[in-house]
Amino acid sequence: MKTTVYINNKINKFNKIIFVPGDKSLSIRFILMASQAIGKSIAYNILMSEDVISALNAIKKLGINYKIYKNYCVIYGKGLDGFSCRNNTIINAGNSGTLSRLLAGLLINIKNTIIMKGDQSLEKRDMGRIITPMKMFGQNIVSKKNKMPLIIKGTSFPRPISYVEKNGSAQVKSCILFAAMKTFGTTKLKCIRSRDHTEKLFKNLNLPIKISKSRKFEYISFKGKKNYKGFNYIIPGDISSSSFFIVLTLLSKKSQILIKNINVSKSRTGIIDILKAMNAKVNLQNKRIYKGENIADIFVKSSNKLKSINCPIKMNSRSIDEFLLIFLVSSVAKGISKFREIGELRNKETDRLKFANNFLNKIGIKTKVTKNSLKIYGNPNLKLNKTYEIKNFDKDHRACMVSFIAALTLGGKWIIQDTDSINTSFPNFIKILKTLGAKIN
Ligand code: S3P
Repeated sequence: MKTTVYINNKINKFNKIIFVPGDKSLSIRFILMASQAIGKSIAYNILMSEDVISALNAIKKLGINYKIYKNYCVIYGKGLDGFSCRNNTIINAGNSGTLSRLLAGLLINIKNTIIMKGDQSLEKRDMGRIITPMKMFGQNIVSKKNKMPLIIKGTSFPRPISYVEKNGSAQVKSCILFAAMKTFGTTKLKCIRSRDHTEKLFKNLNLPIKISKSRKFEYISFKGKKNYKGFNYIIPGDISSSSFFIVLTLLSKKSQILIKNINVSKSRTGIIDILKAMNAKVNLQNKRIYKGENIADIFVKSSNKLKSINCPIKMNSRSIDEFLLIFLVSSVAKGISKFREIGELRNKETDRLKFANNFLNKIGIKTKVTKNSLKIYGNPNLKLNKTYEIKNFDKDHRACMVSFIAALTLGGKWIIQDTDSINTSFPNFIKILKTLGAKIN
């Protein structure tokens, strides 16, 4: 398959309605939660990307059957003690941090040894953040230098824990909640606020979860060992995938777009609040609630008077996957944009802070970067006319897709390598760009 793409033209004006695929966080959570339910669960509009397929392959290796139909996916769960596998079963989580970390929680009571691997990028990422709490539950989890592969053997008597989560990571929070599901007694968590899809699913399934929130923290208590029946879920579109089109529209001339049926949970809409504060014309229409999740259509118009932002730290977790796009907007906004305490970006599929800094410098934008902050000196008159090659980004899907948006809005000639990485989260990304008129070879 051809993985190098050439873009030599900006996109012309467009005015379209689009749909993006199902939310990745919810798709993976659906699969894992359905694997623990008793009986049949059905998801409509599930994302069919590599990360989600890795999740389906993983539950299959653990003895759970599923079927994929044209519009829906069925999973035949076997309850909280339903996983079964041979000793030394190898599970490959591919590129997915979410799958590897959440699944580790479900393996709290697995009887035989599991060896969990990942691709080159995932094997570089920190697993210490889940190893510590999993050991407290009683899991036997071994790794070298807190990296994958993880060798996991469960315990027959997981004990509830009290834990303070300091990374603002929904993956760690969810890993702990998944382990707590299989534990007698009450697990207590204090965490920096982060996306809350797992908690909403728990509430929806009537699982005994209690949550209170302060400005910075969430306090969760959850009593385990309650079985639940199979359930149905219509997965809304992914705001992280939508964001590429939000920014494409903002930075294009005389264009507008309506992105239908998107999960706009408050824990995910940092990008919208940040862009609005930068003078972007973005708003939510047709707001509704489905199973506790906020859904809306996102309407965006070209915006040519963008101004810089001093980004409040409380936005960081709410826009964690969208920073590359926010940095791109900052590069053409008037003034100096400042982002603090964003060191978590160094822990993603690639070191996104390093990638962003190199990328912005490559297109002639002045920056100042530290271990966990970035200053961007915006240039509203930025016009590119050189050739830019994007490569060596650890196949990070979001690094790859943000390069398409820069290429289609800033000018110049672009060569983008490793575009197969897009299949991780958004297989029809290029197809949708082409329906808007993008010329991509
Ligand atoms: C995710 C949580 C975030 C996010 C990732 C998906 C999730 O990671 O970056 O893409 O589905 O829980 P962290 O938990 O590491 O912040």
